[in-house]
Amino acid sequence: MPPRPGDLLVLADSDTGTAPLKPADLKLGADPYLGWALDPNDKVPRDGTRLNQILLMRFDPSSLTDREKAWAVDGVVAFSAICTHQGCTVTYWLTAPQVLECPCHQSQYNPRDAAKVVGGPAPRPLPALPLKMAGGLLVVAAPFTDRVGGEQQTY
Ligand code: FES
Repeated sequence: MPPRPGDLLVLADSDTGTAPLKPADLKLGADPYLGWALDPNDKVPRDGTRLNQILLMRFDPSSLTDREKAWAVDGVVAFSAICTHQGCTVTYWLTAPQVLECPCHQSQYNPRDAAKVVGGPAPRPLPALPLKMAGGLLVVAAPFTDRVGGEQQTY
C-alpha cells in the first residue's frame, strides 16, 4: 500500500524506531533522509516495497518555489526516492549546486522546485508527497503527485 493521506512519517534508519516525525527532527539543510509512511492506526511502516521509499529534506521555507511551498510544511519537502529514469534509489546530495543526484546515471533534481530535473537522463520530476501538519507532526496530505518508478524500471 503506497503512502495515504493521514499517514505519519518515520525515518527508515532511526534510533527512535517508529516515533512519528516532527519538522524539528530533520536538520535544516542536512543530507536527504530516507523515510517511510506510517499507518496511523497500527503504527506499521509502509515498507513492503522499495517503491514506497520517501526522501525528506528541510529547508528555509523562503528558499522554496511557490509550487514547492504548496506541498511543503515548515520547510520540509518529501518526494519519492525512486529515480524516474530506471528506478534506482536517489541518495546523493550535492551541496554546491544544491541538487539531489541519482547514483546510477547522475540524473539531478531540484528539491526546492518540485524535484524538477536539472541534469541527466530522467524524463520527469520525482513525484512529490504533499505534506501538512497535525498535532505538531508531519502528516501526508495527499498521495504521490505522479506515478512512482522509472520509465525503464531495471532496479
Ligand atoms: S536510474 Fe537514476 S539516472 Fe538512471
